[in-house]
Amino acid sequence: MLHVNENYSKIKPTYLFAEIAHRVAAHQAAHPEAKVIRLGIGDVTEPLAPSVVAALHRAVDDEADRSRFHGYGPEQGYAFLREKIAEVDFRARGVEVSADEILVSDGAKCDCGNFQELFAGDVRIAVGDPVYPVYVDTNVMAGRSDIRLLPCTAANGFVPGPEGCDADIVYLCYPNNPTGAVATKAQLQAWVDWANERKALIIFDAAYEAFIRTPGIPHSIYECAGARTCAVEIRSFSKTAGFTGIRCGYTVVPDGLSAYAADGRPVELRGMWTRRQTTKFNGASYLTQRAAEAVCSPEGQAETRATVDFYLGNAAIMKEALRGLGYAVTGGDDSPYLWVDVKGDSWAFFDRLLAEANVVTTPGAGFGAAGEGYIRISAFNSRENVLEAVSRLKKVL
Ligand code: MLT
Repeated sequence: MLHVNENYSKIKPTYLFAEIAHRVAAHQAAHPEAKVIRLGIGDVTEPLAPSVVAALHRAVDDEADRSRFHGYGPEQGYAFLREKIAEVDFRARGVEVSADEILVSDGAKCDCGNFQELFAGDVRIAVGDPVYPVYVDTNVMAGRSDIRLLPCTAANGFVPGPEGCDADIVYLCYPNNPTGAVATKAQLQAWVDWANERKALIIFDAAYEAFIRTPGIPHSIYECAGARTCAVEIRSFSKTAGFTGIRCGYTVVPDGLSAYAADGRPVELRGMWTRRQTTKFNGASYLTQRAAEAVCSPEGQAETRATVDFYLGNAAIMKEALRGLGYAVTGGDDSPYLWVDVKGDSWAFFDRLLAEANVVTTPGAGFGAAGEGYIRISAFNSRENVLEAVSRLKKVL
């Protein structure tokens, strides 16, 4: 008899955003005339930057020409992209990350989900609560059960510290999904010191780094002293440059960063990650990597920053409106997400906004028990839709 992986029975039967999509589809089917505004999943709405579009066209022409055609690419990603990333995302901010330490992928979600494969089945995992569900679900799928929750509450500003945390791997995400909170350098440094002391690993998800506007907030974990010996950093072009449909991200695995074999021997993680990726993945496409390279150009940087500013403008409009309605709201300043205290059942609040305002949000409970009582609102939409959503929320609430 063929047996299934029983670990799948330990996670929710549907992924959070799939469940929301089902509910929205049912609502839309029952009310075909309703103009539903989607502020749920953090999916971008603005078109690609002109320099990215131009790069894609050029890359298509390359693929149409025998002398410029590219098949399988190099295992870590093309050097033309990794070198630009090292320059623009790190060196320009005074952070030393070399092109060799960057491994390009088809998005941060895969890297966030797959990196745990390098570790033993009994490692202890720590995650925030609420949390991006991928960190937890992928560890449970792999059979891990020792998952420790770090409550992110209004009392700790949604940024838990390492005090009392006994784990081997901690997932940190700042700017945070779902709360929109950012961590100060001192707060991240405390985690780095914690990890180095106990030979633990930080998996730092910086997918929303491009939204940071507050001076002094770290954009990279490597701004903290000692992070190179205890942290990998995962980045994404999805929210930075509107690549949710193009798919490109990368993981930084510093030279010498190691975990330990059963006999205590250090094993370098970059070698293991490269081995894993070359076995299970054939790289982001040439077209994608040329598009990502264009994001790193001066024009691409200016164009994508303007789009991020536009989404932050949406966030500011919604934050002000919700506060005016008497809700406590965090996030939205350095993040595309607003975290709204709805003081009640979050799925009920989600259903009410969908039924009465035709506005899709994300119930906080979907991100973990400590998310109950909150909803997440995404600022990824057109200005017209955001203004319309605000006017509907004002009527309903
Ligand atoms: C979200 O809405 O949390 C994100 O879009 C999900 C993702 O990036 O996978």
